[in-house]
Amino acid sequence: MTEAETRRLLVDLSASLFARGFSVGTAGNISVRLPDGYLITPTNSSLGRLDPARLARLDAAFAHVDGEVPSKEVFMHRAMYTARAEAGAVVHLHSTMATAVACLPDVDAANPIPPLTPYFVMRVGRRMPVVPYFRPGDPAMEPAIHAAARDARAVLLANHGPVVSGRTLADAVHAAEELEEAAKLFLLLRRDNPRLLTAAQVADLLATFR
Ligand code: 13P
Repeated sequence: MTEAETRRLLVDLSASLFARGFSVGTAGNISVRLPDGYLITPTNSSLGRLDPARLARLDAAFAHVDGEVPSKEVFMHRAMYTARAEAGAVVHLHSTMATAVACLPDVDAANPIPPLTPYFVMRVGRRMPVVPYFRPGDPAMEPAIHAAARDARAVLLANHGPVVSGRTLADAVHAAEELEEAAKLFLLLRRDNPRLLTAAQVADLLATFR
């Protein structure tokens, strides 16, 4: 994919997330790895109205080199890329259901959403830990996210929202969508003792859909 195509795809996927309510106002930010750096959404921008020519460009060391002022969450994105060599894109949202789970004190912080459905396991993985609360833009979140992401494709920031990595931009967006739906199912069912996928079923999914 050319850089122009990548910019267009980032803008189109962002607009789609916004149109379907996965992001409101100026919440959320998205980045994608380039051969020589990264593109990331500008700070205080609506995911619904991005301009491909004005995305912030970072060099391979995450320094801002072009475009508008980058998201204040560059640290968050850097934590995911440095923890996960395969990550080609990172999506951060404040999507309602996942953020609701991130506000619950009585969930398992190591893995709050159990394996209810195959697509959550296939897209998000075996576990998604909760990272303690940090103020948005606080660089102190970086080591905490990095440590959690070494073992997980996605993490949930307490009282804030999900951070999801993927091999490609589309993968990361699809995983963020599956995570939101899984969070919704979890909130619908958590008082009903739902049937979960077994450890063998989870292992089968992870072995079959790498
Ligand atoms: P930015 O506008 O700086 O990207 O921040 C939005 C956000 O989602 C903060 O967590």
